[in-house]
Amino acid sequence: MVSSQDIERAVAVLRAGGLVAFPTETVYGLGADAANVEAVKKVFAVKRRPTHHPLIVHVADAVQVANWARDIPPPAQELARRFWPGPLTIILRRAPRVHDVVTGGQDTVALRVPSHPVAQALLRAFGGGVAAPSANRFGRVSATTAEHVRKEFGGEIELVLDGGESDVGLESTIVDLTGARPALLRPGWITASQLERALGRPLALPGADAARAPGTLPSHYAPQTPLVVIEGDLLGELAAAFVRQGRRVAVLALSASQPVLQGITWITAPRDAAGYAHALYANLRGLDEAACDAILVERPPAAPEWAAINDRLNRAATNAESDQP
Ligand code: TXA
Ligand code: MG
Repeated sequence: MVSSQDIERAVAVLRAGGLVAFPTETVYGLGADAANVEAVKKVFAVKRRPTHHPLIVHVADAVQVANWARDIPPPAQELARRFWPGPLTIILRRAPRVHDVVTGGQDTVALRVPSHPVAQALLRAFGGGVAAPSANRFGRVSATTAEHVRKEFGGEIELVLDGGESDVGLESTIVDLTGARPALLRPGWITASQLERALGRPLALPGADAARAPGTLPSHYAPQTPLVVIEGDLLGELAAAFVRQGRRVAVLALSASQPVLQGITWITAPRDAAGYAHALYANLRGLDEAACDAILVERPPAAPEWAAINDRLNRAATNAESDQP
């Protein structure tokens, strides 16, 4: 899918201050040379992202973290050893060279070593850090395929590397190691309890200081169509009520069975958390494209492996106009 020539071209685009969308195992990223202020500014412009929202710097391996962070405390080394390359982002104190445009002016920097082979090939060939948010317009559903990225940005980015479907399908877990206690800023596929086991101590959970990780805004990851999360036993009934009122409804079901009625766009999601997460954003995009009056999502279980999924669904369900600070 991606040739060595594609990687060379991508590196040339990055060195010239352009943007490259690339696959990671979580979601696609919209990358720029993290050391080039003008290139990083383009990311904010294309994404229409407010400039105070800091970006993650992606590097090829844990050794390179020393170029971006001024202090790598033992817990960071432990998490890196245990979870990198992989879907984990660690917040550390930034090195002096890290530009304000990357960190939103904060004294901290987010770092991640992705495992996707194309991301790895790109980062190795480039040699530096790639600042990349998820490759979607601000506040919208993240992209898990190259086609999602092209649909979202059209010709606005120079190059999209097509590495197939992102495996995990949800953005990385973010842990802040700059405070008195390690804090979980964004739940992800690596769970809080996995992190606690690796750290040997409890984490501060999200909520206490949410403003520091704007990916944790109440409204985020949202389709255009209003989305409601609802218990499975009410789903069929509610969908049918919509249809009887002459409204069109799109449903993401889990265990509920589809009522025999015209006018419902229905997707039954995989029953396991990994399969559900992998398909979630493609499913939300598909349901959004059906341009219905509402998207109804069957509430997944409350079990720990569903925590990141429930987090994203709750943010997707939050009305941006009324709740975004
Ligand atoms: O899986 C992922 O993390 C994907 C792939 C492309 O790596 N990236 C991603 O980036 O989700 P983005 O920009 O959509 O979300 C990054 C989150 C944002 O909520 C941002 O506020 C937070 O990381 N963040 C970045 N730097 C931070 C910092 N220094 N302190 C606290 N939060 C930070
Ligand atoms: Mg994002």
